[in-house]
Amino acid sequence: MVTFVKKYAVIMFILCFSVTYAYTPDEFNRLLAKVPTHNLPHNNPNGCKTCHGGVAYMGGQEEELCYICHGPKIKSTERLKKAKLKTVEAADVRTDFEKPYRHPVGKTGLHKDKETYPVLDPATSRHAECLDCHDPHYSIPEIPLLAVSGVTIEGKFTNANYGEYEVCFKCHGADANKPYYAKNKVREFSPDNPSFHPVVTTGKNNYLPSLKKGMTHETIISCTSCHGSDTKGAKWVRGVHGSENEYILVLPYTKKEETLTPRYDLCYKCHREDSILGNQSFPYHRQHIEGVKARNWKGTSCSTCHNSHGSVKYPFLIEFNTDYVKNDEVTQKLEFKSEGVFRGSCYLRCHDVDHSPKTYGQ
Ligand code: HEC
Ligand code: HEC
Ligand code: HEC
Ligand code: HEC
Ligand code: HEC
Ligand code: HEC
Ligand code: HEC
Repeated sequence: MVTFVKKYAVIMFILCFSVTYAYTPDEFNRLLAKVPTHNLPHNNPNGCKTCHGGVAYMGGQEEELCYICHGPKIKSTERLKKAKLKTVEAADVRTDFEKPYRHPVGKTGLHKDKETYPVLDPATSRHAECLDCHDPHYSIPEIPLLAVSGVTIEGKFTNANYGEYEVCFKCHGADANKPYYAKNKVREFSPDNPSFHPVVTTGKNNYLPSLKKGMTHETIISCTSCHGSDTKGAKWVRGVHGSENEYILVLPYTKKEETLTPRYDLCYKCHREDSILGNQSFPYHRQHIEGVKARNWKGTSCSTCHNSHGSVKYPFLIEFNTDYVKNDEVTQKLEFKSEGVFRGSCYLRCHDVDHSPKTYGQ
């Protein structure tokens, strides 16, 4: 426990971001022995009766039950008064769940107690309820996801997760009922890939001029370093509940072309903007990101060249967004070749310009 807390505190200190936690079975058992938040009378004065009193439990609509404490203000309804249920002010997650980009907890009654993942039948209804990510019988302040089931990086179902990403992999992995555009995150974050953001394990590149102070190639980040609430200041609450930013991102990020004022704040949380736009690695970063007015070239998003999670094919997270990038008309190829430190070639067609190839750093 002590080492765990230390590790937690150190990462917290260095990053000041939300934290990844991957713990061993021993640490897990010690965490399980702690008194769960909702068993402490000052958090939950009614004990089991809060949720199992027959009156308040709204079977299938558990979020309404959670919101009596986890809302913007305590709701003391006639029903609660009649049931003599006391409420306590707790982290307001409801506000985030009312934002435009959010997990669809409002769809009710779809979660079942004994579900397993990944989902194999495409007809299975897709959902995400509080109870898919939290078990209020076990959760503790350090680990709000404690004792929830997950899917490992090997793609196997597990009754209890040993790290946040395992909970996310339940529904964002190989599941047959994902939306058509959604990619398999288990595959994107696989340590076997030539490159990936360091969520499951440390990254493969130890020479990144853009990384901000305090981060090295040994740094581990988490899904919630990038996905979560956009709220600033004292009202911010942890968790990938909802955000004003598309894809439930903590900071604005533009993926689509032809956006009037594109923003890449998310990437600049960890990578220095002056380094990227100063062309310290890829010598044509600035011209691609900002465009070149004199030639009437518009800028393009990081996502046109980089996959924000990982690349199954190339180093540097290179994966071209095929909405905009096509095979070049001379060689018919769509390919990236790294040819040494800050040197490489691209075969592709983008904005009617053939790269067949275009090289950099030579
Ligand atoms: C914060 C709300 C909350 C509190 C407090 C709470 N429960 Fe539950 N409990 C639930 C919900 C919601 C379910 C349904 C779980 C599901 O469908 O996955 C549940 C399910 C259960 C089950 C069925 C098996 C299971 O784990 O799914 C048992 C047994 C149970 N609770 C016992 C208790 C006991 C005993 C207490 C008091 C020590 C308690 N609960 C306190 C919300 C709560
Ligand atoms: C009677 C009030 C009450 C109800 C009802 C309630 N909670 Fe909580 N919950 C608390 C308090 C108090 C805390 C700790 C302080 C805070 O989060 O602000 C807490 C903390 C949490 C945390 C953070 C991790 C932790 O364990 O400290 C999670 C996750 C959570 N609750 C989930 C739920 C879910 C899911 C439900 C509905 C099934 C629910 N709660 C219902 C009072 C409540
Ligand atoms: C029980 C299933 C479930 C779990 C667990 C889950 N999600 Fe989701 N997630 C969904 C559903 C359903 C949506 C709505 C869009 C869809 O169907 O993919 C969604 C949407 C998202 C989106 C927005 C995607 C978009 O298309 O705009 C992000 C980002 C996301 N989830 C991240 C996470 C992260 C990070 C975790 C782990 C902390 C997680 N999810 C855990 C079911 C889940
Ligand atoms: C370094 C930041 C970063 C990290 C870490 C990250 N994401 Fe994302 N994610 C993004 C961005 C940016 C987008 C949207 C733009 C895009 O697709 O390029 C996105 C899109 C998504 C989407 C919607 C698109 C799709 O393919 O379904 C889901 C779901 C998602 N992420 C889940 C996760 C999960 C689960 C994790 C952890 C295992 C994770 N993300 C870690 C930045 C991140
Ligand atoms: C929470 C911090 C964080 C955020 C946000 C973030 N990154 Fe990273 N990124 C890292 C870390 C840490 C590494 C180092 C991984 C390594 O050493 O291989 C990295 C590595 C990279 C690499 C090089 C990977 C390799 O193997 O060569 C690229 C490219 C990259 N990030 C692009 C992006 C883009 C694009 C965004 C915005 C969508 C972004 N990053 C957002 C932390 C972050
Ligand atoms: C898709 C997964 C997912 C769903 C669905 C979800 N949560 Fe969370 N929640 C998280 C994650 C991830 C965290 C943060 C974990 C961390 O930072 O360590 C979190 C954190 C929390 C916290 C702690 C907030 C704080 O700052 O102390 C509370 C309380 C909470 N969730 C309640 C709820 C309630 C209530 C619901 C349903 C209305 C819900 N969550 C639905 C993933 C989810
Ligand atoms: C036109 C394609 C393209 C676009 C657009 C692009 N990049 Fe890159 N980026 C590359 C290439 C190619 C490399 C690899 C350079 C090398 O050979 O090391 C790279 C390398 C990187 C690296 C790793 C080296 C370093 O500088 O630390 C980071 C981080 C990165 N890019 C971030 C970004 C961000 C953030 C954006 C958007 C604001 C972006 N890139 C937009 C092509 C692109």
